[in-house]
Amino acid sequence: MNLELRNFELFKIMIELRNISKTFNTGSAAKISALKDINLTIQQKEFVVVVGSNGSGKSTFLNIIAGSQKPDHGKILFENKEVNKLHEYQRSNWIARIFQNPLMGTAPELTILENFRLAALRTKNKTLTIGTKNKFRETVREKVSMLNLGLENKVDQLMGTLSGGQRQALTLQMAVMDDAKILLMDEPAGALDPKTSETLMTLAKKIIDDFGLTTVLVTHQMKDAIRYGSRIIQMAEGTIKKDLTGDEKMNLRLQDIYAWFD
Ligand SMILES: Nc1ncnc2c1ncn2[C@@H]1O[C@H](COP(=O)(O)OP(=O)(O)O)[C@@H](O)[C@H]1O
Ligand SMILES: [Mg+2]
Repeated sequence: MNLELRNFELFKIMIELRNISKTFNTGSAAKISALKDINLTIQQKEFVVVVGSNGSGKSTFLNIIAGSQKPDHGKILFENKEVNKLHEYQRSNWIARIFQNPLMGTAPELTILENFRLAALRTKNKTLTIGTKNKFRETVREKVSMLNLGLENKVDQLMGTLSGGQRQALTLQMAVMDDAKILLMDEPAGALDPKTSETLMTLAKKIIDDFGLTTVLVTHQMKDAIRYGSRIIQMAEGTIKKDLTGDEKMNLRLQDIYAWFD
């Protein structure tokens, strides 16, 4: 392959936000500018960590990418194609999402197996939806056993009976189906104890690498912000205040990030 073409492949743009603004309570005294004219390009396989105070616009930023909220102004592009008009469920073919609350990703009254079936239908996952019931069960067992949670013989157990950490791990595994290209995580370990949090982040990193995902992680864990990611962004009052990549990200120390919040 010629070098120019290879370079082009290396720097393929996955997500682009152009002049994105989002206001809540427009026209009232309680008007809030959650995002103010955001411009950002995220390359394929980039791992972006987003930090920032409460209310700085981090979740709104992820919602706009996922399509669960529409911007007032601006364009959103995936791989150079505008996706403004695509609904959240349509974007979910490429986007996997994990929230802070382990209850949000899965249905508690359904079994692990049934939750996988739902996820497969939602993302139109071919390897999971095609095939017999037994084949499906076997595929789910394989996927679950990869998590090393000892749940492979319990795929008929109700999701609601599992621990928060187990649910987050399963949510992650379900979210990342064959066609997923982008993983959005909003404080995924926020409700977990330190050890479970570490296990989940290690699992996330493995899945990201295995699937070659482009990742945006919102976290309040500054240790995770140091350890993970090829790029770090600080949001403040609806704007991008800092944006570091390469050596600047690599050489960042905990105290450097803490100083941003002073
Ligand atoms: N649905 C909503 N309705 C009204 N205000 C909202 C809504 N969602 C977010 N906001 C406001 O927008 C600002 C940014 O919120 P958010 O993106 O959730 O911040 P973060 O995730 O960084 O804590 C906050 O002031 C928040 O109160
Ligand atoms: Mg938030």
